[in-house]
Amino acid sequence: MKTAAVLLAAGRGTRMKSSLPKVLHPVAGRPMLWHALRAVHEAGCDRVVVVVGHEAEKVREAVGAAGQCVVQEPQLGTGHAVQQAEALLQGETDLVLVTAADMPLLRGETLSRLIEAQRAHKGPVTMLTVLADDPRGFGRVVRGEDRRVQAIVEEAQATPEQRAIRELNVGAYCFSAGWLWEALRRVPLSPKGEYYLTDTIALAVEEGLSVQALTLEDASEAIGVNTRVHLAEAEAVMRKRINRQHMLNGVTLINPEATYIEAGVAIGRDTVIWPNTFLQGDTTVGEGCMLGPNTLVRDSHIGDRCTVLASVVEGAHLEEDVEIGPFARLRKGAHLARGVHMGNFGEVKDSYLGPGVKMGHFSYIGNATVGAGTNIGAGTITCNYDGEKKHPTEIGEDVFIGSDTMLVAPLKVGDRARTGAGSVVTKDVPPDTLVVGVPARAIRKLESRDRD
Ligand code: UD1
Ligand code: CA
Repeated sequence: MKTAAVLLAAGRGTRMKSSLPKVLHPVAGRPMLWHALRAVHEAGCDRVVVVVGHEAEKVREAVGAAGQCVVQEPQLGTGHAVQQAEALLQGETDLVLVTAADMPLLRGETLSRLIEAQRAHKGPVTMLTVLADDPRGFGRVVRGEDRRVQAIVEEAQATPEQRAIRELNVGAYCFSAGWLWEALRRVPLSPKGEYYLTDTIALAVEEGLSVQALTLEDASEAIGVNTRVHLAEAEAVMRKRINRQHMLNGVTLINPEATYIEAGVAIGRDTVIWPNTFLQGDTTVGEGCMLGPNTLVRDSHIGDRCTVLASVVEGAHLEEDVEIGPFARLRKGAHLARGVHMGNFGEVKDSYLGPGVKMGHFSYIGNATVGAGTNIGAGTITCNYDGEKKHPTEIGEDVFIGSDTMLVAPLKVGDRARTGAGSVVTKDVPPDTLVVGVPARAIRKLESRDRD
């Protein structure tokens, strides 16, 4: 049986009070829409149609290849929204899973169960419900004396007795396709001037067909985001969920309450993460690392057994056994090879530091390559910018850059060369040569005993 998903994302999201479309607000670093798309894909849907409307172009861009978009204009309610997918899906699918893109916590496995339940059901629809003390404006699930579902009543239209009902409509349904398209044509206009998808439930009951309800075990999955207060709630639940999964996978979080790991970050076993650490974007961390406290890693790849203490790492790549911090800053294009040690107040951008390079204190390395085993003395700066252009610096292997050296790019420093403390190097330095002074001059050729 083929199943298509229809994700509703056309609404205005007025209560967010934002210029960003609601479904693009991030939860754990990814748009709510991303979470919703992931869940329907995990549920194994053959096709995914996203109904867009308000700020349609921005939302369409965020959907990308993860689904097809249809535009709902004007937005006349959730029933009307689903109807927009009919032209694409008519005759193409047996079941239609409908959910909203503002429910980032709904799990793929829950949607799978919903689909399975409808496959095994004779009636036209299976819906998801939740039992909750706080109704949060959700539609109420009205059951008859026989406990069968009779209708969904929206809060605004509910009688006081109905308002007291604590079984709520989550807003996820699996319909038999043929029945759905036909029923949507019969949905009446609501007192609010909208066509409610929820009214299809009463239509089924009127026809004498049975409506099946599946109740969520984990009520947090039903958190829908209508305001920024809900957004923070969703964020907290998602963070807990992500952290728990990493812990179960063998990562130690000293204090999970103060550890912020975005969706999609991968972390190897036996890595220990200290509080106030943020792992964001497209980031991977290897095994046996020590991260934090007070560390931010974004869009970076960190190899096994690295230590990153109180540092900021963005767009960087650390191979194995790299040690950085406290107070190091790696910017985009920083590539630190195996065994690099970078201490306090260093900054590296668009540069390669070869295996075993040491850069202990107060240095800036930009647009440079540094060969294996080289020592960058305290206060060294690659003067890579002349006010208009960036220029490269190439430093060889086993070089010793003396403290407070200014390397005025473009510049090459040969293997095993040395610079004296405070030199300002403006000309290329041949291998095995010691340069000193301002501007730096070669004063002698180095023998191997000079270096030992
Ligand atoms: C809806 C349900 C309610 C349920 C709740 C769960 C209806 C009438 N009510 O209420 O029973 O408890 O979800 O979260 O369905 N949308 C469109 N086009 C429209 C209107 C809405 O695409 O014309 C989209 C919105 O972008 C949103 C979703 O549908 O993603 C739900 O709409 P929203 O206005 O948030 O409905 P609720 O009031 O939350
Ligand atoms: Ca909603």
